[in-house]
Amino acid sequence: MSVKQPKGEVTPGFSTPVGTRRKFFQWVTRMAAGLIGLSLAIPLVGYVISPALKRRDKPWVEVGRVDELTAGQPKQLEYVATIRDGYLEAKTHKAVWAIKQSDGQVTVFSPLCTHLGCGYHWDGDERKFKCPCHGSVYDVSGNVLHGPAPRHLDVLPAKVENGRLLVVYKEFKSGTSTAVEL
Ligand code: FES
Repeated sequence: MSVKQPKGEVTPGFSTPVGTRRKFFQWVTRMAAGLIGLSLAIPLVGYVISPALKRRDKPWVEVGRVDELTAGQPKQLEYVATIRDGYLEAKTHKAVWAIKQSDGQVTVFSPLCTHLGCGYHWDGDERKFKCPCHGSVYDVSGNVLHGPAPRHLDVLPAKVENGRLLVVYKEFKSGTSTAVEL
């Protein structure tokens, strides 16, 4: 004779949760979909933002030939630079001051006065760099002879390869006693 169990009551020790297997497969499916989505999204995000991350990379650019320079005589070298900012690319005219030393090494200065960023020029008679804006004067090595320039002329990374002078063009904060790259 069987004992009738009232509806809704569960015999202790014999319960089987209803729908557990279905929930497990739903969970596995969601996890798999999430992993697939993530594996597609990560390379895509990298592809989209990498140009923005690379925008501050500054390339070596050729600004002239070393045999165009006379030892001890500063020369302004002009060139066309390609500026990349994220996805944007533009051509712009730039100039630097280059001085060949007696040992063949070349020192390259940023063309901007360290006071407030005006362009300066070379006075060949006095052998000084002079800034027309507020009267700063530098010697041939870039040292400040008269203010208000707060620091030495900014030196740019430079190297010579097969007679070509290569430079990394950088800009620095003006008006500070130490060079802070922008
Ligand atoms: S910007 Fe050159 S002296 Fe002021």
